[in-house]
Amino acid sequence: MTPPVTGTSPGTAPSLLEPLALYGADFAADPHGHYRRLRAQGPLARVRIAPDVDALLVTDYHAAVDLLRDTETFTKDPRAWQEGVPADSSVLPMLGYRPTALFTDGAVHARYRDAINDTLARIEPHLLRAEVARVAQRLIAEFSATGTGDLISQYARRLPLHVFTSAFGVAPQDTERVVRGTGAMMDSAQDAATAYEDLVGVVTELVSVRRRSPGRDLTTYLLAHPAGLDDNEVVRQITLIMSSGHEPTTNLIGNALLRMLSDTGYGGSLHGGATTAHEAVDDVLWHDPPLANMGAHFPRHDTEFHGVPLRAGQLVLVSFAAANTQSPPSGSDPAARSGDGAHLAWSAGPHRCPAKQPALLMAMTAIEQLTSQLCDLELAVEPGALVWRPGPFHRAPAHLPVRFTPLGTFPEQGGADAPDAADHVPNRVGGTPNG
Ligand code: HEM
Repeated sequence: MTPPVTGTSPGTAPSLLEPLALYGADFAADPHGHYRRLRAQGPLARVRIAPDVDALLVTDYHAAVDLLRDTETFTKDPRAWQEGVPADSSVLPMLGYRPTALFTDGAVHARYRDAINDTLARIEPHLLRAEVARVAQRLIAEFSATGTGDLISQYARRLPLHVFTSAFGVAPQDTERVVRGTGAMMDSAQDAATAYEDLVGVVTELVSVRRRSPGRDLTTYLLAHPAGLDDNEVVRQITLIMSSGHEPTTNLIGNALLRMLSDTGYGGSLHGGATTAHEAVDDVLWHDPPLANMGAHFPRHDTEFHGVPLRAGQLVLVSFAAANTQSPPSGSDPAARSGDGAHLAWSAGPHRCPAKQPALLMAMTAIEQLTSQLCDLELAVEPGALVWRPGPFHRAPAHLPVRFTPLGTFPEQGGADAPDAADHVPNRVGGTPNG
C-alpha cells in the first residue's frame, strides 16, 4: 500500500491522532458518529479519505462559511497538492485538476461559471418539470405491476441521468457509461480513474460531433457561448455538470424517499400522508446532504485558520453534513440545525452550486410523481438493514427495496431505455439553444 500523503508534503498537517477513515463501510454506516468524534477535536480535524490520502476536514459551521468565502487565503487549484498524491489514487477523479469552474479562481473561474450559468439558464422550469414527469412515469411503469422494486436502481439513479443526457444530446446507448463514470468517481472506487476517462471519452465524442454538426441541445449552446471555450474546456464543463448533477440529485431523491418511508414522524409508510416532499427534501439537505464532504480548498500560504495551523497547498475539505448539524454545541442532537437559518448543502461563496433551482425541481417532481402513483409504498427491509455506498464525498443508500400494491392497469411500455419519438428531440428542456 502506498503510504498516506502526510505532513511533510503538501498533503496534510502533522497530528498525533490517527486520522479517522471516511472511505470504508464503518463511515458509510455511521457518518454522524464520525462527525461527532471529529468535532471533539476542534473546528478542523485530520481525516483519511483514501488509503493513500489524508485531509483536514472542517466540521464547524462558522469555520466552513469563513473558508468557503475566503478567496484570499484559499485557492481551489489543487495542482500543488496533487504533486504529492499517487497518480492512480482513487480520489483524483473527484479532486484532481481539470480546467473547470470547480478547480479555478478569479477571472478564470468567472469565465467558466458564466458559461455554466448561461447554459443552465436555458433549462425552462416548466419544460424541465414536464420532462421529469414524463421520464418518471415511464420508469414507474416498468416496475409498477410487480408490487416490488428498488427505488435507487430502478428510479432515483436513472431519472436525473435521462434528463441530463437528453438535454446535452448524449446518445441513449452511452447513458450507462455516464452513470458508471459519475458513480465510480463518487464512490472513489478502485476503477474510478478508468470510469472517469470513459465518461470523458463519451463527452469528447459528443462535443466533436456537435462541433461539426450543431444540434438543438445544451452541448451546442455551450460550444457557441460567447466565452469562446475550446473543445477540451467544453468537454470538461459538461463532465463537471454531469458528475456534479447526476449523483447528488439521485441521492437527494433517494434520501428524501427514505426519510418519508422510515421516519416515525412520517408514519412509516406514505399512507399516513404526514409529510410533503418539500419537508423531506428540506430535512435531507440539513441532515444528510447529498454531497456530504467536498468543497476542496488549499491554503495559498502557511497560515492559521480558526486556531489551526495550515500549511500551503494542503487539502482542506468542508463537511457540509457535519457543519449543518453542529448545533447545539454538543453536536449530538440528530435534529440539530446550525447557523442562522441557512444550510450548506449547496455550499456557499463563489463556488456554491449553480443548479440549486433545477436540482430541487427535479427532485421534488420525481418524488411527487412516485408517491402519487404508488401511494401505499413501504420499505421492504428495516431501515437499519440498508446498505450505504462507500466513499468520503456522498451520502447515498445503495438500494431502497420497497413493496406496494401492484398497479395492473398501465399500458404496455417499451421501457425507459427504449427509444421513442420523444428521444429524438434531445433538447426538451432547454428551448432553442441558439435562438
Ligand atoms: C441535490 C442536488 C445537488 C446538490 C446537493 C449539489 C451541491 C453542490 C455543492 C455542495 C457544490 C460545491 C462543491 C465544491 O465546492 O466542491 C456544487 C457545485 C456545483 N454543482 Fe451542484 N449540487 C446538486 C445538483 C447539481 C446539478 C443538478 C448540477 C448541474 C445541472 C450541479 C452543478 C454544479 C456545478 C457545475 C458545481 C461547481 C460550481 C463552481 O465550482 O463554481 N449541481 N453543487
